[in-house]
Amino acid sequence: MKDILSEIKQRASALNKTVVLPEGEDSRVVEAAYKTVNEKVASIILLGNEEEIKKNNPTVCLDGVKIIDPVVYEKTGAYAEMLFNLRQGKINKKTGAPEYATVEDAKAYILKDYTMYGALMLKAGDVDGMVSGACHSTANTLRPGLQVIKTAPGEKMVSAYFLMIAPEGGNKYCEDGCYIYADSGLVQNPSSEELAYIALSSAKSAIQVANVEPRIAFISHSTKGSAKHADVNKVTDAVKLFKEIAPEYKADGELQFDAAIVPSVAKSKAPGSEVAGHANVMIFPDLDAGNSNYKNTERLGGFMAIGPICQGLAKPINDLSRGCATDDIVAAVAITVLQTKN
Ligand SMILES: CC(C)(COP(=O)(O)OP(=O)(O)OC[C@H]1O[C@@H](n2cnc3c(N)ncnc32)[C@H](O)[C@@H]1OP(=O)(O)O)[C@@H](O)C(=O)NCCC(=O)NCCS
Repeated sequence: MKDILSEIKQRASALNKTVVLPEGEDSRVVEAAYKTVNEKVASIILLGNEEEIKKNNPTVCLDGVKIIDPVVYEKTGAYAEMLFNLRQGKINKKTGAPEYATVEDAKAYILKDYTMYGALMLKAGDVDGMVSGACHSTANTLRPGLQVIKTAPGEKMVSAYFLMIAPEGGNKYCEDGCYIYADSGLVQNPSSEELAYIALSSAKSAIQVANVEPRIAFISHSTKGSAKHADVNKVTDAVKLFKEIAPEYKADGELQFDAAIVPSVAKSKAPGSEVAGHANVMIFPDLDAGNSNYKNTERLGGFMAIGPICQGLAKPINDLSRGCATDDIVAAVAITVLQTKN
């Protein structure tokens, strides 16, 4: 079984990119900054006060890690102006007032929210990617990206997937050593059209990050008409649209999970399918299914779950689980680097 994570890190290393980690207050992030640089996965910019970071992490070597303190950094004013201009005319949903009435407001905001600060560094081209979320919620991590980085040209929307890596020794159904599960982290209740575009982004992610040829299964509680329901129609409509917009990829549905990965079940439930029994990209009908399935595969199946990994953003930003370990952060940085490559 190939070591997918080592391979991802090696490919990232060859690209020589810089990633910002805005959560300098978190010791796991500080340790990951050192590890990332030491393993030559990427150059790192850590946000925070250098003295504080060093005081709080006395045993961590920070040689080679660049620390930027937004409070005194010379570009903070320019980032504030950029935020003000990008968000002009936008209304804060909670207060009903403009998000930022003045550049000073924008400056005060980015000095409180370093995830937004990092997103602006990315927008300005001062870094190539951002990884955050070790001590912030998914919503607070992804919102700055959605607001200032925006969807990539040619993509319909941003979505999120988990890269599920098979346990050591492999898994009898997992032919490539990994699966992509989408959307498992961002889009609550996608329409048929949105499902088709989530599948398209996921197919690209399979190639770009996992380095596998995508075989896409649109998952449902029905296989090839075994159940009749509007929920099933949503999935079959998505498959139809996907085949129109991306005929170059192998895709099939609607398929139950067992029909998607177990060859003998596929043979009886979906005979003749070029995907059933061998799928490696799972497109779930909604976030409840996507999120529950990744946790299920992780906990019961012993897979390693990396994500949520965002796809469809114009520049890469990735979220971390708040329970993440240092190595998870290094892995997220490596994946972020691979996403800089189109
Ligand atoms: C990510 C998330 C926080 C966005 O919520 P939100 O901030 O209320 O979103 P809004 O609808 O106000 O949108 C904010 C901006 O992002 C954009 N946006 C939101 N979702 C988007 C998507 N999927 N793709 C592209 N843009 C999107 C909106 O168009 C809007 O842009 P604008 O402000 O420039 O007009 C929300 O989708 C969410 O909470 N998802 C679930 C996350 C979660 O809990 N996951 C489970 C744990 S892994």
